[in-house]
Amino acid sequence: MKQLNIGQTNWQASEIAFGAWRMDALSVADAAKAIDTAYDCGINFVDNADMYGDGESEQRFGDALKQTSVKREDLFLQTKGDIVPGKKYDTSREHIMNAVESSMKRLDVDYLDAYLIHRPDPLMEPEELADIFDDLQKSGKVRHFGVSNFNPQQFLLLQESLNQRLLINQVQFSLMHTPMIDHGIHSNMADERSINRDGGIIEFSRRMGVTIQAWSPFQYGFFEGVFIDSPKFPELNKKLQELADKYEVSKNAIAAAWILRHPAKMQVIIGTMNPQHIIDSAKGADIEITRQEWYNLYFAAGNDLP
Ligand SMILES: NC(=O)c1ccc[n+]([C@@H]2O[C@H](COP(=O)([O-])OP(=O)(O)OC[C@H]3O[C@@H](n4cnc5c(N)ncnc54)[C@H](OP(=O)(O)O)[C@@H]3O)[C@@H](O)[C@H]2O)c1
Repeated sequence: MKQLNIGQTNWQASEIAFGAWRMDALSVADAAKAIDTAYDCGINFVDNADMYGDGESEQRFGDALKQTSVKREDLFLQTKGDIVPGKKYDTSREHIMNAVESSMKRLDVDYLDAYLIHRPDPLMEPEELADIFDDLQKSGKVRHFGVSNFNPQQFLLLQESLNQRLLINQVQFSLMHTPMIDHGIHSNMADERSINRDGGIIEFSRRMGVTIQAWSPFQYGFFEGVFIDSPKFPELNKKLQELADKYEVSKNAIAAAWILRHPAKMQVIIGTMNPQHIIDSAKGADIEITRQEWYNLYFAAGNDLP
């Protein structure tokens, strides 16, 4: 498994990360199997969040890890907070401090490798978060910080108050979810795709040396479903299969390799809990598709160039 430098620091982690969102649906034994499988594939980075399964995904991970041969120190554990399901986003001191404690308790760990603010909170006070991050770092509870679903202005607004560098921005990106690159390709046009809705996350992250973590690499829409093998996307699946045959891997691997081929050096967070799908997807880090293959997949996903 190839490694990447998170936030252009010396911190190296696997290009493919394991997302635990869907882990609450598993028994502890099946969760342990998924963790062991991912680790055996070379995946050493795990993403979680306090709102996944309303805390159950963190709890299941914490319980399951003890039944594996993997030690806590063998993994980089990241979790996220600020979403209060059904109610609000909350970046207040009281909420974040309690959230970190609760996540650590469920995961049963005494430190987190990274903590991310899950979604931008319009009521966020950057100075308040700066104090919180300082306290969390000084106490040894959190080593690194980042954000998720932040646009560049929101990122800078927070970054400018902090004593730590934000190393990560976790955003949705897949072959079937490409607004981050569409607007750049259609720059200076008057069509729908030229609209820059996110303020240039990719360009900003590359300039700032921020690692983009691509969530939902095999989904289309906002959790509408999996595009791999879906009859809704015959052209894309045909092209994925063609390249899967060429590189002797699965379609999952090709879809992951398409994200990794981008020079922004993103980390791909896969969310499958199926051991075979984990093995298949992890192989995406072993291959490098060509420039033309990257474009051909983009076209097969229904995109064009001006
Ligand atoms: N920051 C955010 O706002 C945010 C939002 C969403 C997710 N995330 C993170 O990103 C991670 C990944 O998200 P995700 O789970 O949506 O990603 P995903 O890997 O795109 O989707 C996983 C789903 O696809 C299915 N799947 C994968 N390969 C398949 C195949 N070949 N055939 C059929 N089904 C297949 C899986 O089912 P099986 O388990 O049966 O394989 C699972 O239901 C999450 O765990 C979480 O850590 C972050």
